Amino acid sequence: MGVLALMRLTDQAAQLNQKLGLSGVLFYENQHFGQILEGPRAEVTKIWEKIQRDPRHHQVRLLNMKEIEERSFPAWSMRFFLAKEIIAKMPNLTGVLDGLPEHDVELLRLMRTAAE
Ligand SMILES: Cc1cc2nc3c(=O)[nH]c(=O)nc-3n(C[C@H](O)[C@H](O)[C@H](O)COP(=O)(O)O)c2cc1C
Repeated sequence: MGVLALMRLTDQAAQLNQKLGLSGVLFYENQHFGQILEGPRAEVTKIWEKIQRDPRHHQVRLLNMKEIEERSFPAWSMRFFLAKEIIAKMPNLTGVLDGLPEHDVELLRLMRTAAE
């Protein structure tokens, strides 16, 4: 996916999420995405179904789905991060990010920490 397609995708996601009361973060590194999506269960489920069917990507995986007391990213309808921005802030994460889709637990922890 090129830069323009990426911008279109994040822009669309942010606008739709705003309308639906969803929030979260989206990471991108070398053709891999990591995403946290939060909001009312019905809306999250609906978008999750759409994302899975979206032909713009393949091999979609659910890492975790759970009830939460409060949102971690209430101010972000979809905050977008490039892995290199995070590495600049946290150089010790370089190895973890290289394997973005392989490390479920680290990825979730990383997305939470980086977006704080
Ligand atoms: C990696 C990735 C992340 C996405 N994240 C969102 C999102 O957070 N919110 C959203 O509404 N759509 C997201 N989309 C887009 C949806 O798959 C879908 O295109 C969009 O919801 C519009 O669907 P519709 O045309 O059926 O209304 C994402 C797509 C991809 C590939």
